[in-house]
Amino acid sequence: MGITGRNPVGIFLFLFLFISYFLSLFCQAANTITQGQPIRDGQTVISEGQNFELGFFSPANSSSRYVGIWYYSLPEKAVIWVGNRESPISDQSGVLWIGENGNLMVLDGNNKSVWSTNASIPSQNATAALNDEGDLILSGSDNKVYWQSSNDPTDTFLPGMRVQVNAEMGENRAFTSWKSANDPSPGRYSLGVDPRASPQIVVWEGEDRRWRSGHWDGRIFSGVPNMTGNYLYGFGLSDLENGSRYFTYTPSNAADKLRFRIRWDGYEEQLRWQKDTGNWSVIQSQPANQCELYNKCGDFAVCSASDSAICSCMKGFVPKYTDQWNKGNWSGGCMRSTQLQCQRNVSNIAEETDGFFDLMCMKLPDFPDLMVVDSDETCEGMCLQNCSCIAYAEVNGIGCMIWKRDLVDVQHFAKGGNKLRIRLAHSELVLPTVSSISCCKYKQDKPIFEASKSREFSTDLSGSVDLAIEGNETSRPELPLFNFNSVVIATNNFSEDNKLGEGGFGSVYKGRLPGGQEIAVKRLSRRSVQGLEEFKNEIILIAKLQHRNLVRLLGCCIQGEEKMLLYEYMPNKSLDGFLFDSSKQALLDWRKRFTIIEGIARGLLYLHRDSRLRIIHRDLKASNILLDEDMNPKISDFGMARIFGGNQHEANTNRVVGTYGYMSPEYAMEGLFSVKSDVYSFGVLLLEIITGRRNTSFRLSEYSSLIGHVWHLWHEEKAMELVDPSIRDTCSRDEALRCIHVGMLCVQDSAAQRPTMSSVVIMLESEATALPLPRQPTFTSMRSSFVDTESCMEGHEIVSSNDVTVTMVFGR
Ligand SMILES: *[C@@H]1O[C@H](CO)[C@@H](O)[C@H](O)[C@H]1NC(C)=O
Ligand SMILES: *[C@@H]1O[C@H](CO)[C@@H](O)[C@H](O)[C@H]1NC(C)=O
Ligand SMILES: *[C@@H]1O[C@H](CO)[C@@H](O)[C@H](O)[C@H]1NC(C)=O
Ligand SMILES: *[C@@H]1O[C@H](CO)[C@@H](O)[C@H](O)[C@H]1NC(C)=O
Ligand SMILES: *[C@@H]1O[C@H](CO)[C@@H](O)[C@H](O)[C@H]1NC(C)=O
Ligand SMILES: *[C@@H]1O[C@H](CO)[C@@H](O)[C@H](O)[C@H]1NC(C)=O
Ligand SMILES: *[C@@H]1O[C@H](CO)[C@@H](O)[C@H](O)[C@H]1NC(C)=O
Ligand SMILES: *[C@@H]1O[C@H](CO)[C@@H](O)[C@H](O)[C@H]1NC(C)=O
Ligand SMILES: *[C@@H]1O[C@H](CO)[C@@H](O)[C@H](O)[C@H]1NC(C)=O
Ligand SMILES: *[C@@H]1O[C@H](CO)[C@@H](O)[C@H](O)[C@H]1NC(C)=O
Ligand SMILES: *[C@@H]1O[C@H](CO)[C@@H](O)[C@H](O)[C@H]1NC(C)=O
Ligand SMILES: *[C@@H]1O[C@H](CO)[C@@H](O)[C@H](O)[C@H]1NC(C)=O
Repeated sequence: MGITGRNPVGIFLFLFLFISYFLSLFCQAANTITQGQPIRDGQTVISEGQNFELGFFSPANSSSRYVGIWYYSLPEKAVIWVGNRESPISDQSGVLWIGENGNLMVLDGNNKSVWSTNASIPSQNATAALNDEGDLILSGSDNKVYWQSSNDPTDTFLPGMRVQVNAEMGENRAFTSWKSANDPSPGRYSLGVDPRASPQIVVWEGEDRRWRSGHWDGRIFSGVPNMTGNYLYGFGLSDLENGSRYFTYTPSNAADKLRFRIRWDGYEEQLRWQKDTGNWSVIQSQPANQCELYNKCGDFAVCSASDSAICSCMKGFVPKYTDQWNKGNWSGGCMRSTQLQCQRNVSNIAEETDGFFDLMCMKLPDFPDLMVVDSDETCEGMCLQNCSCIAYAEVNGIGCMIWKRDLVDVQHFAKGGNKLRIRLAHSELVLPTVSSISCCKYKQDKPIFEASKSREFSTDLSGSVDLAIEGNETSRPELPLFNFNSVVIATNNFSEDNKLGEGGFGSVYKGRLPGGQEIAVKRLSRRSVQGLEEFKNEIILIAKLQHRNLVRLLGCCIQGEEKMLLYEYMPNKSLDGFLFDSSKQALLDWRKRFTIIEGIARGLLYLHRDSRLRIIHRDLKASNILLDEDMNPKISDFGMARIFGGNQHEANTNRVVGTYGYMSPEYAMEGLFSVKSDVYSFGVLLLEIITGRRNTSFRLSEYSSLIGHVWHLWHEEKAMELVDPSIRDTCSRDEALRCIHVGMLCVQDSAAQRPTMSSVVIMLESEATALPLPRQPTFTSMRSSFVDTESCMEGHEIVSSNDVTVTMVFGR
């Protein structure tokens, strides 16, 4: 360098630089307030790196003066902290200074303190410095920090700020909104942390929650799944050595100006300074939609922002106030439709234990308990241990969460979120209306969750609610008794025109009640003694049953020798009328057929298990499946059905009743019947629905039966050739093949190897279930020999729904 004593120009330059240096030092020293050096209104303090500025300001459209901190040199003044927010100064006579007790205070024109840091400071010589993180720090001559603005924040959470998360402290409402856009005094809203379970961010309105982020999973807040896609900043939960914890966030790019704040109108928002446009842009804001509003749909309901009716009850729950709910007033929420097994007094009827239903892509409910799961335990097991536990979830980074109170503030996300497993009575679990297994399906169809259908769904289950005590003749449920004359009028005196059909028991007529309701009247032939037995049987049985896939008995009529049963009228008559009529076959497209198969399966399942009475239909066949105006199937004709007691699994009869071709081998040959004989009949019926051919039509064919034929083609991997040609090209190949597979499992020789109806329902509806391989049926004609003593003797249900592994998959 040319700065030497011998060079006068050099000396001058040196002095110039020296003076400039001290001048600049002097200017930059203005980041500090010292005792005896007040800051008057109009003067400001600027942080060393010129990020922030401290001084007096007035909000927009206001003349009140406040001490605040804002970003230095940004054209749009963004105030991040206000001192005397509750006591403005009405003119420009205010002073900010450090008083004799070392505290920072704001004085008005009369020398009256309107705001003070209120710390007790032992040393007299305190200073306050504004740093480049927007923090005003008051320290004593001992260099100890006695107060800092970031510990006494207003409405803004800045990078580097620490928000305490201490369980002992409880909720920390660190930030309070302004009262209005021009009034910094504390408003109705606050923003902070609830440390319970795993910490989460909460926005409060007064004492009530308005929004919450969901629990911190170590990476993101679980209720804000799209935080995953954020590259602008990182959130962190730090643990201090003394045991206290705090949240901070840090911009990925240190030069970025980012801030969170709770706006005066209750919105939490995150802003970023946009250099190119010269203004603040909102990166995100919450509550972003109706579903983000806390518990928008009430308890036990799910909010889904992408649906037109955003609220729906969780599976197994129905609206608490249906009228309000249907009007769109969801605040009442939902209630459980079937008590949990663990909540009931278990009677001698062997009841299935409770299980779990999976809700995918959820914002998990508020207020979980965090459980420590030992190596010999599971989260599910811990939940089942306590009847108070009504749901659980296992989340990476959090662990096992269980809920023992109402499930509140639950939301369904189109993408992301967590799996919530809700505890339901067994009967709820085996009555899925639709596959809600995968995320995508849940989104597309989800009829379970439609408000309009919840009612219907609840009536579905009413059969399991107030059934009469089994075998108690005196407590038979009430069944309306119709007067004979009214039936005569309704059926136009049993005119030929009204006749719908005829069977061994008598004839069936169409009728119309005075109110206009159409009915079907089954009139027993007077001669039939057998018919009388079946008549009684049917009344006792069906009157107790209610399910959407069972035909509804409306009443009966007994007068002299006349005995009649009145049913709801099924305009589309029976399934065989469509299925085996070449002119109508095509009307049953694949969708309808699949719906019919599912409906029959559910109806049968209800009979077998969910009505509490174990009922074996014994005569399931296409002509006993009636179709309503929407082609929904209803199982009818309970004349041959039998009730089983709780522990009875099979029975023997000398009188084998049923229909050739639908009868299982053990029933046809040994008179043994059980739920598995119905499963067999269901299998045959299912294969008929797929093939569009009667099982009897194969009697003279190469394989002598439908089953033999199906097995043969299935075995040769030509199963698609089985599908009714009228729908073969338009059907869903996967569903059709799955149905055929399930059908093959149902018609296996061994009753023990056939699935139960609950397994069937699951297998039909879940694409992800791995199906076992069926054994080749040997009982393909009545003459075949049949040997399966083992299963017959034991008579246990070996295959239960628990054996079916349902693999949940996320939709893509
Ligand atoms: C201030 O007043 C003007 C005119 O009345 C209005 O347009 C503006 O929105 C106000 N600003 C705020 C922040 O209230
Ligand atoms: C305000 O009080 C301080 C001492 O507390 C005093 O030095 C100052 O003169 C007073 N100012 C006025 C205007 O009274
Ligand atoms: C200081 O104490 C006064 C009187 O107790 C109180 O009104 C004021 O809010 C306190 N200031 C702060 C910053 O806590
Ligand atoms: C107070 O602090 C200033 C600047 O740091 C220093 O010059 C002065 O000596 C201190 N006074 C006392 C009494 O400590
Ligand atoms: C732990 O240390 C921090 C920072 O020093 C302090 O703010 C906090 O109050 C301390 N917590 C406890 C429990 O001592
Ligand atoms: C920021 O400025 C751009 C361009 O001037 C404008 O389009 C945008 O609306 C502004 N955003 C806000 C939040 O004011
Ligand atoms: C995340 O979702 C919220 C609404 O829930 C939306 O406002 C925000 O823009 C989204 N952020 C990203 C990065 O997609
Ligand atoms: C909404 O329903 C609740 C009952 O769940 C009722 O108390 C409230 O008055 C209803 N609100 C309106 C606006 O009807
Ligand atoms: C459960 O059964 C016991 C004994 O039968 C009876 O004392 C009790 O009241 C019952 N509880 C309920 C809730 O029905
Ligand atoms: C079940 O949970 C409730 C509520 O938390 C608790 O009071 C009860 O002790 C628990 N019971 C068992 C058996 O753990
Ligand atoms: C049958 O039901 C009636 C009426 O509910 C009841 O009083 C009676 O005890 C029941 N009888 C049996 C054997 O359960
Ligand atoms: C109904 O028909 C029967 C015989 O078919 C007849 O005897 C009877 O009088 C008719 N009743 C009415 C009310 O028409």
